[in-house]
This record gives sequence, C-alpha cells and structure tokens, in this order.
Amino acid sequence: MSELNNIALKIIGNGKGILAADESTGTMTKRLENVKVKSSSENRLKFRHTLFSSKSMTTCIGGVILYDETIKQEFDSRKIPKIISDKGAVPGIKVDTGAKNLANSSEEKITEGLDGLRDRLKEYYKLGARFTKWRGVYIISNNYPSKIAISTNAHALARYSALAQEAGMVPIVEPEVLMDGNHTAEICLTKTSEVIKKCFEELILQKVDLKGVILKPNMILPGSKSDQKISSDEVAELTLKCLNESVPNEIPGIAFLSGGQTEIEATKNLDTINKKNKSAFIMSYSYGRALQQSALKYWSKNLDDVNGTQNVFNHRANMCSLASQGKWTEQVEKK
Ligand code: 13P
Repeated sequence: MSELNNIALKIIGNGKGILAADESTGTMTKRLENVKVKSSSENRLKFRHTLFSSKSMTTCIGGVILYDETIKQEFDSRKIPKIISDKGAVPGIKVDTGAKNLANSSEEKITEGLDGLRDRLKEYYKLGARFTKWRGVYIISNNYPSKIAISTNAHALARYSALAQEAGMVPIVEPEVLMDGNHTAEICLTKTSEVIKKCFEELILQKVDLKGVILKPNMILPGSKSDQKISSDEVAELTLKCLNESVPNEIPGIAFLSGGQTEIEATKNLDTINKKNKSAFIMSYSYGRALQQSALKYWSKNLDDVNGTQNVFNHRANMCSLASQGKWTEQVEKK
C-alpha cells in the first residue's frame, strides 16, 4: 500500500499538480466548437499532444488525467501514456461513465460506471495508467444536495476507490459541489462539508486505504449567480475550515478542481490557501479549464503553432505550481 502513497506523492508533491485533460468527447466538442475548431479525433489529439509534450510537463505536472479515447491513441507512433511518463508525469484515467439522472430526485445526478469496472481497470493498468478519477456531482439549492444524492454518490465513490486500489492505482475521489446557483459561500461550506464527510465515512467503511487516495474537491465559493463578493482570503479561510474539519489526516493531499473559476481566480485562491495552510495536507491543483483555457484559445488561431501554444500553457502551469507552494504573486503573473 505504501506504493500507492508514493504514486500520490509523485503526482501532487514537490510543487506539482494534475492536468485534467479527461473531458469526454461531448465536453471536448463543446470546448473546441467554442473556439471554432472542428472536433475530430485528430484535432482532439493534436491539442492534447501539444500540451503533453511541453516543457512544464517535467516541472509542474505530476499527473495527467486522460479520457478513454486519448489513453488508446498514438502520436508519431508513440503511445500517449508513454509520452506522458517519459516526461516524468504519471498517466491517469477517468473511469466513471458520467452522471445520470438520479431516480426519485428530479434534478440530481448519480455517477455511473461500476458495472464491469474491475475488468476495465485491468485494461487501463496495462495501458500504463497508475491513477484514476471518478467524479460525483452535486447541486446546491434549499433542498439539495439531498440525503439520497449524498449517500448514493459517496457509496459509488467508495466502491470505485476500493476497486482502483485493488488494481494498483490511486483513486482520485472527486465530489464536486457545483458553483451554479445564488447561494452564499457559507451555504457552500455547510453543504460541501456534509458531502465530503459522507464520502470518507463510506471510504472507511469499505476499507479503502486513505494513504493511497487523493481528494479532488471544489473550493468554498459563493454561487455563480450570488450577489455575494468575497475576497481570496475569505475563500481560503472557508476552504481550509471545510477541509480541516472533514478530511482525515491520513490523506496525503488534496488537488482542487477549478470548477468554472477564471484562470487567475483559480491560481490566486490556491495561492492564498497555501499561504494560510497550517495542516500537513499538500494543497495542489487538478485543473481542466484553469490550465487549458488560454492555451486552447491561442491554439485555435493556428493549429500548427506548437511553440506558441506551449508557451501559453507553460506560463499557466508555472503559475499554478507557484500557487501550490504559496509563492505566486500578481507581478510574476504579469511577467
Ligand atoms: P475543471 O478544473 O475545469 O473544473 O475540471 C476539472 C475536472 O476534472 C472536472 O471533473
């Protein structure tokens, strides 16, 4: 089991974090169409390979989460997981099959993908994956997340985690409480704490080794339609309060999702969290949009400008790496 702990530390230790490049084909198609690029398998690979072959992969990225399509692809006859591991990063794989409507709860979701998971995990291990991701998704309103959503998603996250560890891979446990809505940050704190506590209750019940788990939570923020404006200091304080009260000490680290924050917000908030963090938890990043947005926009203007796109990505990854060590500043951002 210490092997899993070593993998977790390799992914998020030493100022490194995770590049979440595991958008499903549907989500990636929306991202590409937004910047007027055709969503072909070739274009999806071309953009992702541009990121995976960039310089910051060796210094700032400890792990890359892939989607099923990408982990099976090759670029110039080299397998994608090999390209990633040759850079010193760990290849990972999203293994859930998406959030579906939850029975008896009209607006909520339950994440599926447990059937046949043991066999799929064996296949992904053979392809080179050493960590996995499963995302549970929760909405906030007066009545939500409901007890059913909280307990069924926690149960699924724990069953998935136990199977991932059995297959020799670190599970990333991602209970994402969405930013959508007009709730306050205090409500986000209460609901997120309830969700995370239930996840660990289930993980412990199902004998998951917590030393070989990475938690991927949302930061504590006001809803995206809320009038409340809070400072980065307040975001950090509420987020640390939530995690210090809900996460068992055995967990090696936490890697936040960006969840719709801008690149700068996600960087600044992570930096402030680390400047204030007194716990032993590593607090790093597992960003999708907040690592890729500017690079994708730049790349969309000229799909062959590999160097230019990599420069944009390298800057973003460097900023996130500094933030994961509490060393980011507005000056260094502008350089
Ligand atoms: P964002 O950072 O864009 O929220 O994506 C992270 C992720 O992996 C969501 O599952």
